[in-house]
Amino acid sequence: MLLKLCCIYSTGVFSMLLLIAGISMVLSNVFPHFLQSVVEKEIVLKNGTLAFDAWENPPAPIYMQFYFFNLTNPLEVLDGDKPAVVEIGPYTYREYRPMEEVSFHENGTKVTAVNTKTYIFQPNMSRGPESDLIRTVNIPAVTVMEKFKNSWVASFISSYMKSTGEGLFTTRTVGELLWGYEDELLKALKVIRPELDDVFGLFYKSNASNDGEYMFFTGQQDYRDFARVDTWNGESSLNWWTSDECNMINGTNGASFHPVITKNETLYMFSSDLCRSLYALYEEDVIVKGIPGYRFSPPSEVFANLTVNPANAGFCVPAGNCLGSGVLNVSACKQGAPIIMSSPHFYQADEKFVQDVFGMKPKKEHHETTIDINPLTGFVLQAAKRIQINVYVEKIPTFSQTGNVRTVVLPVVYLNESVIIDDASVTKLKVIVLEENVVVNIPFMLIGLGILLGGIFMFLMCRQKIPESTAAERQPLLSS
Ligand SMILES: *[C@@H]1O[C@H](CO)[C@@H](O)[C@H](O)[C@H]1NC(C)=O
Ligand SMILES: *[C@@H]1O[C@H](CO)[C@@H](O)[C@H](O)[C@H]1NC(C)=O
Ligand SMILES: *[C@@H]1O[C@H](CO)[C@@H](O)[C@H](O)[C@H]1NC(C)=O
Ligand SMILES: *[C@@H]1O[C@H](CO)[C@@H](O)[C@H](O)[C@H]1NC(C)=O
Ligand SMILES: *[C@@H]1O[C@H](CO)[C@@H](O)[C@H](O)[C@H]1NC(C)=O
Ligand SMILES: *[C@@H]1O[C@H](CO)[C@@H](O)[C@H](O)[C@H]1NC(C)=O
Ligand SMILES: *[C@@H]1O[C@H](CO)[C@@H](O)[C@H](O)[C@H]1NC(C)=O
Ligand SMILES: *[C@@H]1O[C@H](CO)[C@@H](O)[C@H](O)[C@H]1NC(C)=O
Repeated sequence: MLLKLCCIYSTGVFSMLLLIAGISMVLSNVFPHFLQSVVEKEIVLKNGTLAFDAWENPPAPIYMQFYFFNLTNPLEVLDGDKPAVVEIGPYTYREYRPMEEVSFHENGTKVTAVNTKTYIFQPNMSRGPESDLIRTVNIPAVTVMEKFKNSWVASFISSYMKSTGEGLFTTRTVGELLWGYEDELLKALKVIRPELDDVFGLFYKSNASNDGEYMFFTGQQDYRDFARVDTWNGESSLNWWTSDECNMINGTNGASFHPVITKNETLYMFSSDLCRSLYALYEEDVIVKGIPGYRFSPPSEVFANLTVNPANAGFCVPAGNCLGSGVLNVSACKQGAPIIMSSPHFYQADEKFVQDVFGMKPKKEHHETTIDINPLTGFVLQAAKRIQINVYVEKIPTFSQTGNVRTVVLPVVYLNESVIIDDASVTKLKVIVLEENVVVNIPFMLIGLGILLGGIFMFLMCRQKIPESTAAERQPLLSS
């Protein structure tokens, strides 16, 4: 009898203890903190860690896809009509970007490396071969005409162009436009400007080359610095965030994220194509291959006009000369070529750019830049960087080649550089996410168990209090 009572009371005490433990764990957040500290120790660039392997040789395949805009009415455009384009693509390249010449410094707190990028054409992921022809604006010619439009040599250049038959538009293969071709006009100009390169290509010299040495933090001192760039070619990366000087930021493309990302986070990335750094904000929750993630994307203010975002004043060049929302004049970092960057199909740009060209159909899901990150580990689950290259075309009186063309920002090509997490990493991450779910729920399990034991305790107490006679009467009923 005494033993029985003792058991009942211990149940009660035990249930109270479980409840107290469970509730205090919930209130003190001990398990999420513990989990965070475990992850923080794992995320460091050190020879032998998984994070180092993934950083040195990204396991997920990266694809670079190009979509060109084939101009269908060149003669009418020269007469002042609105240009009409047809989107043609994708032309897909697999991008390899291993870290090379890796060496550690300052007791393992920093690491230097060069990032060599190689592009291999993928015929079966492409619409056609690299020899497909695209008719588009003649970028070397436009650049030369813009450069010399007020010079006394303009008429000489113009007659030279007439003799070679070069005009405002040209038809070239995909391979030539991307990786370079010898341009007759540039070659001729080399005579007076020997420092000029006579090869033109949108990604000329980008293949199998690197852009110099990076110094990264390993994250050993502070996990939030994991794989963050410290310096690039000796320049402090701090300059990249703040400077409008594109030659300071045109080196790198990429982003690194630390573990335990929150929805309030602002993610910074650099983009050499845009000649500037970008930021992205939380947009929505996503699931990628079964793993939870937060989707971040650049808000429209990033490219907004001055009225909406005065911080963009630095991108109105020359000072005060603003083109409008959603487009960026990057002429200064493209050797003076009148290149204008935007989102594909002028997504998030002023409506006038969309209206100025037949064939633009901006769509959020196809044309926005996104990055999906697992919040616990900071792993990139999926990302797509989408950028369009346009040329600023206008009538230049000293060059009859420009005819009566109307002033327009003419799209040439857009690219989608994308990556999705590989299956081997998915398996590893799933284990971590499962552990997270179990560990985070331990306090709630304790509380549940406490409530259950409390219930049993009360039930037993009630039974105990029942007078012996009634209990005796009921016994046969219960056992029958
Ligand atoms: C990492 O360790 C391997 C094997 O011990 C060694 O061959 C390699 O050079 C090391 N790498 C670096 C960057 O220290
Ligand atoms: C590396 O660690 C040693 C011993 O802790 C210390 O004396 C030395 O100053 C450190 N070197 C650097 C570059 O931090
Ligand atoms: C890039 O370089 C690699 C190796 O040099 C070569 O195999 C590949 O075909 C090149 N890609 C392009 C697009 O030229
Ligand atoms: C682009 O347009 C030109 C001129 O009309 C044409 O010759 C070419 O075949 C088109 N390109 C593709 C890939 O359809
Ligand atoms: C940035 O790119 C431009 C044009 O491609 C080039 O002239 C310049 O040297 C680059 N800047 C650096 C620091 O490499
Ligand atoms: C700036 O953008 C806003 C919103 O797109 C627009 O209403 C406004 O007219 C623009 N201002 C200028 C000066 O273009
Ligand atoms: C773009 O910027 C350059 C200087 O960097 C300037 O000369 C040119 O006029 C600008 N283009 C437009 C369309 O504003
Ligand atoms: C890249 O973006 C384009 C345009 O939205 C889309 O058609 C293509 O499927 C995307 N590629 C990948 C690999 O997601």
